[in-house]
Amino acid sequence: MSNMSKDIRWKYSNFIENKNYEFNKEKILNILSKKNIDEAYNIISGWEDYKPTPLLLLNKLSKELNINKIFYKDESKRFNLKSFKALGGAYAVETVSKNNKDIVISTATAGNHGRSVAWGSKKLGLKCKIFISQHVSENRAEVMRSFGADVIRVNGSYEDSLNECINQSKINNWKIVQDVAWKDYELVPKLTMAGYSVMMKEINDQIKDQKISHIILQAGVGGMAAAMIAGIARYLNHIPEIILVEPESAACVLESIKSGKIKKIEIKKESIMGGMSCGEPSLVPWQILKNSTKYCVSVSDQRVSKTVKYLANFIFSDDKIVGGECSTPGIISLIGLNNDKNIRDKISLNKNSNVLIFGCEGDADEDLYQELLKKID
Ligand SMILES: Cc1ncc(COP(=O)(O)O)c(C=O)c1O
Repeated sequence: MSNMSKDIRWKYSNFIENKNYEFNKEKILNILSKKNIDEAYNIISGWEDYKPTPLLLLNKLSKELNINKIFYKDESKRFNLKSFKALGGAYAVETVSKNNKDIVISTATAGNHGRSVAWGSKKLGLKCKIFISQHVSENRAEVMRSFGADVIRVNGSYEDSLNECINQSKINNWKIVQDVAWKDYELVPKLTMAGYSVMMKEINDQIKDQKISHIILQAGVGGMAAAMIAGIARYLNHIPEIILVEPESAACVLESIKSGKIKKIEIKKESIMGGMSCGEPSLVPWQILKNSTKYCVSVSDQRVSKTVKYLANFIFSDDKIVGGECSTPGIISLIGLNNDKNIRDKISLNKNSNVLIFGCEGDADEDLYQELLKKID
């Protein structure tokens, strides 16, 4: 272990406390209901090959940081799709298609959501059109094609690919299965979140009677984080300190929480954590996040490759862990926050803490994963 507790390169960029913090179970479950959550679990747990992903211990890291336990939910093992996104898109496809074999499914994606939608469509024998921006690697496109999807590349950003998807879907009468919400488009994003909430059901079963004191949740547009918060409201008896983490170049939830309303930010440089490089929180998640998030933190890309390597090389844990770029910010922010004595006290991080972090994806982009493993830093 390389003495991370003294190495100033393990740091956070920005940290804020939410002035409007209030964890109100009832309000949260009014947005994503118990019924939504339970239906998703009942259906997904019945899928062929379903099994809970492992909840690992980063036992070496917790020792180094003087924290009781660090649980790591390893989504690299999710249905061979290598990310938690497998739970959302595919479940939404199944629910909206209602056994209708004649519809065509469409979506826009940074990669993992599209993979889930393509996989879900293939399972049901549905045609699928996937729009990607110029930033999505050919490798990711190829995986979606391998599930039978037509992949359409659009010049510009993720937003441009989404606009093109909406336009084409209107013209061709395709059914959009999108993980982000907009005005009058809330049902499908809710279904994807309900799918993600299966992770919290599994975690609740896996921790048995142990209590999670802190939970660090990655956010892009906020769907995964809000789904986990709804899962906490549904399954846990105890409310952990909820900390949201984002790339410093795309900290749209942090900026929104700071100002108390949705803020759109301009992304000047895309983070290497591609799935989290989003400029605006999505409407449905925001309804949950605006009050239930207690703290927001952002991190730079500086320690991403190091974290990928340490996960792979048994530095954090007795287990070998395949964690891609979006699996790193929970760890980076935890070390950074822990290295700041004032913050450690403020958020009550100590030798009794049980911290839960999410390994959201494995080597979903295999080329990038290999590059990160080899990077010298
Ligand atoms: C691979 C990947 N994509 C996307 C996201 C972001 O999810 P959302 O846009 O629902 O906040 C994450 C995690 O935060 C992720 O790991």
